Amino acid sequence: MELMEYIRRLPKAELHLHIEGSLEPEMMFELARRNGVVLPYASVEATRVAYAFTDLQSFLDIYYAGAAALVREADFHDLAMAYFRRAQADGVVHAELFFDPQTHTARGVAFETVLDGLERAAREAQAELGLSSRLIMCFLRHLPEADAFATLEQARPHLARIHGVGLDSSERGHPPAEFQRVFALARELGLRRVAHAGEEGPAANVTDALDLLKVERIDHGVRSLEDPALVRRLVREQVPLTVCPLSNVKLRVFPAMAQHNLKRMLDLGLCVTVNSDDPAYFGGYIGQNFLEAARALDLTRAELATLARNSLLASFVSDAERAPWLARLEAVRSA
Ligand code: ADE
Ligand code: ZN
Repeated sequence: MELMEYIRRLPKAELHLHIEGSLEPEMMFELARRNGVVLPYASVEATRVAYAFTDLQSFLDIYYAGAAALVREADFHDLAMAYFRRAQADGVVHAELFFDPQTHTARGVAFETVLDGLERAAREAQAELGLSSRLIMCFLRHLPEADAFATLEQARPHLARIHGVGLDSSERGHPPAEFQRVFALARELGLRRVAHAGEEGPAANVTDALDLLKVERIDHGVRSLEDPALVRRLVREQVPLTVCPLSNVKLRVFPAMAQHNLKRMLDLGLCVTVNSDDPAYFGGYIGQNFLEAARALDLTRAELATLARNSLLASFVSDAERAPWLARLEAVRSA
């Protein structure tokens, strides 16, 4: 069986996907046109040319500008449905989607407009595609903790539809400690917790995300390997790391895929998973991330199955929901 076909057959969970990062330039232009939004690019082609990033911030500036095309409930619905279809084609059985409410509420789009559109798509994906999902609301760390608190207050009437909270945006200069109190409140409210850490920032951010924010997964975490004591802890506690190989290369966390530490993480016994982060900006969805990492790092099919299994184990679903996926995975692995 061809490698991509094997990757697609592995049932997997996508645990690190910013829904705004799945906005393809074609849809960005279509939505901008129907909403009367002026984009900073002349064409779809010119937009793709602008996607040459030098670091995280150079990407974020463009990503927030693109999100301005999203205005109506239907826009968020259409965006999420387009993602769910692509994810399903890659063998994703469950997706935990990040969304950034502050990016939208700051432009006058109501919190409910965003949530209603995403949630309608999630229900449609379950009914029509058999694809399960959860929504994780991220706080933007370049904004003050007071803004994150205000966002959590907006979310309060809707907590039945929001599974957890995350922390994203510019890691440099915005350590986890700044968001300790809002994460404590989220925890009291029964929300699951994740945070971006150790992407561009130091390994200490990973330790602080665990200790101060009480997160249950680390998004990225690739710089954890700079701290051997932290690695021992992550292995012992089997803390899931949601690694995004194409993102890390595009944002120059690693100079090329051959230099990525994904294989080393697997060898160390870390609970590492593969995800797409912002697929419209970084050159591919989850299948492409598996494929390019597999080729550059010579990953075996057993290792690819382990990555898929880790994603199922690291997802926030119940054991009853997980069991049939694990069984299917074992069937593919042993075929
Ligand atoms: N927002 C969207 N993608 C992100 C990333 N890779 N790191 C931090 N914030 C993000
Ligand atoms: Zn991310």
